Amino acid sequence: MSAFQSENRDTRLVVVSSDPFNAETPLDQHRGVLTPNELFYVRNHFPVPKVDGTTWRLFIDGEVDQPISLGLDEIREFPAVSITATLECAGNGRSGMTPQPPGEPWNYGAVSTAEWTGVRLATVLNQVRPRQSAVELLIEGLDGGIVDGASEPITYVRSMPMSDALSEDALIAYAMNGEPLPPDHGFPVRLIVPGWYGMASVKWLKRLHLSHQQFAGFYQRDRYVFDAGGAIRPLNWMEPRSLIVEPVPSQTLRIGPQHVRGVAWSGRGPITQVEFRAGSSHPWEPATLLGDSHQYAWREWEATWPARASGEYQLSSRAIDAKGRIQPLSGEWNRLGYVNNGVQNI
Ligand code: MTE
Repeated sequence: MSAFQSENRDTRLVVVSSDPFNAETPLDQHRGVLTPNELFYVRNHFPVPKVDGTTWRLFIDGEVDQPISLGLDEIREFPAVSITATLECAGNGRSGMTPQPPGEPWNYGAVSTAEWTGVRLATVLNQVRPRQSAVELLIEGLDGGIVDGASEPITYVRSMPMSDALSEDALIAYAMNGEPLPPDHGFPVRLIVPGWYGMASVKWLKRLHLSHQQFAGFYQRDRYVFDAGGAIRPLNWMEPRSLIVEPVPSQTLRIGPQHVRGVAWSGRGPITQVEFRAGSSHPWEPATLLGDSHQYAWREWEATWPARASGEYQLSSRAIDAKGRIQPLSGEWNRLGYVNNGVQNI
């Protein structure tokens, strides 16, 4: 599989590594719920595969009565479903952890939102008639390479329990904000698992394999697990989190009322409240939620901060979701540096 070369990436993306390409959305570019495709953060473990959409096929096999393969046109013939969903990389905010865990040193920009269109994963899985013996769905991408000095290359493969694959609102998506998926975001087809950290949303789909046993591949067992010394658990739903996108860090402002705005999201339920404060000795004050509540997408919020006297101020916000989960002041340190959803201080 040859690699896609792009000289056309948007120069406003904040590059974290160039090979493979990883980049953040600049926080001050968040305006409205949807992130424009060219500013959507990119998380690639390997070079972007170059795929010919006219010959590409998705294979679905394993513990099924009727294995099939589907081309892009056949996938587009299923009833189309659109879901607005926020994707956040589980490593977002890792750079704020001390000591610094290994992995890409993401700041706060590995999170973006798009309207994804495709067919429900459950619709396609029901076509192949899963057997009772199928316990996990393995989802394989076309990209791969050598990891951790291993002798054999591997591909990017993730798994989900069959029960989640059939019940979650997961999509086999071919469009992003009304456009075909860009190469960086999985052309021709990717999985979208709304509410879950981004690692579950496998790009450049190659195969869906229904397996009779639990999968122990590198990106399932050795990465994307929360290891804080106790029991190791796989990552799934995003924890509640909010960000301030205006003003930006270290910005100098005039004395007088300031407009503060941001975004807030959680994978386990819509955001019900965002709170804001201008210094840790001040009480949290409710911010105003803007627009409509989305089940899987972040909510914009705003607050007015009086800024009556000159000085240095630390601005912070925290998110609360429909399950009553409150964003913590700091995330729990863990060996691989995931889920750092602690309050952002500007
Ligand atoms: N799928 C494949 N095939 N290869 C990858 O490297 N990265 C995953 C996921 N799907 C990845 C993948 C991770 S860790 C994240 S956070 C999201 O894709 C990022 O999606 P995006 O690049 O469209 O923002």
